[in-house]
Amino acid sequence: MSDDTISYSSDDQDLISGSSDDQELISGEPLQEDKNPEILSLRPEKLSDYVGQIEVVETLKIAIEASMQRREPIDHVLLHGPPGLGKTTLAHIIANEMGGNLTVTSGPALDKGGDLVGLLTHLESGDILFIDEIHRTPKAVEEFLYPAMEDFAIDFVFDKGVHARSHRFQLKRFALVGATTRVGLLSAPLRDRFGIFRSLDFYAETDLVTITRRSAALLGVTLGEEGALTLAQRSRGTPRIVNRLLKRVRDYSQVRADGIITKDTVSAALELEGVDERGLTELDRRYLKTVIEFYHGGPAGIEAIAATLQEESDTLVDIVEPYLLKIGFITRTSSGRKASEAAFRHLGYKVQAKMFS
Ligand SMILES: Nc1ncnc2c1ncn2[C@@H]1O[C@H](COP(=O)(O)OP(=O)(O)O)[C@@H](O)[C@H]1O
Ligand SMILES: [Mg+2]
Repeated sequence: MSDDTISYSSDDQDLISGSSDDQELISGEPLQEDKNPEILSLRPEKLSDYVGQIEVVETLKIAIEASMQRREPIDHVLLHGPPGLGKTTLAHIIANEMGGNLTVTSGPALDKGGDLVGLLTHLESGDILFIDEIHRTPKAVEEFLYPAMEDFAIDFVFDKGVHARSHRFQLKRFALVGATTRVGLLSAPLRDRFGIFRSLDFYAETDLVTITRRSAALLGVTLGEEGALTLAQRSRGTPRIVNRLLKRVRDYSQVRADGIITKDTVSAALELEGVDERGLTELDRRYLKTVIEFYHGGPAGIEAIAATLQEESDTLVDIVEPYLLKIGFITRTSSGRKASEAAFRHLGYKVQAKMFS
């Protein structure tokens, strides 16, 4: 590819090397604002309020009903998908629908086997243990999970060598719900012990419209048809982002537009947040510009891209790439990431026919 296929503008360099504030907006980490009671109140509590993901919902509905009829806990459930698509919400819903208590922890929080044993021994029959980011559970801790999931038991080993004795401690019949953004990092023995495994996909526009309207009603915000549609189109297919944006749009309209949310107020507010017409954020654009300008459209290895951007490669793989892959702005080949023609065009680069043939 020759350089004249790309038009550089003078401030592009800043975009690439500058650090992004908006990483927060798409971040998988729960932000302070997600713990805000208003945002928490937006979380559906029943399966019937959970919008979209029809197949996942149907699977869970059947599994919940069947196990209730048998008076047994539900099979262990593994949920996979990018951040913000509703995995934690589903864990809460499963516990609600089953009438069990929910205990929440995460892989990285389980430092030692003892931490997990403490949680397991406190579970009552029919309780749900939710382990977020289960792929980050330390190996030594994971080994306690195998008998716990399979036989509802923990094996304690006393002494070593020829004197080793083991004692089996029986647990109550609980159900484990695991969530992960990277199912490929889960060990096979752990993955195989889940009876139900479902992946969540990015939400369709119509589902996001439903979610925004529901959230707007709960927040007491008046949101027109067009405003809802614009928000849905710009939220990267992600309910968490649609809710975060709705709150920021509400603030904006309150201060700048007499509290009325129109398509224009949404656009103005989102522009302020650095969210473009496709819903891409500053970090998404910096990623694409890096691949296009530094690596001439790719293929480029993820570590190289991460180094140029000065971001963690995990952040890029977990948060940035899934949506860019989904909308076809990048492809993953054996030799690395490539930017697509659509990505070039979206960012305003000139494209020659032969570049993508
Ligand atoms: N299917 C859905 N319907 C309505 N709101 C949803 C749905 N899925 C997620 N949400 C909203 O998005 C927020 C983020 O979802 P969460 O379950 O925390 O995502 P994850 O655990 O996958 O990162 C929730 O607080 C909830 O308000
Ligand atoms: Mg979560």
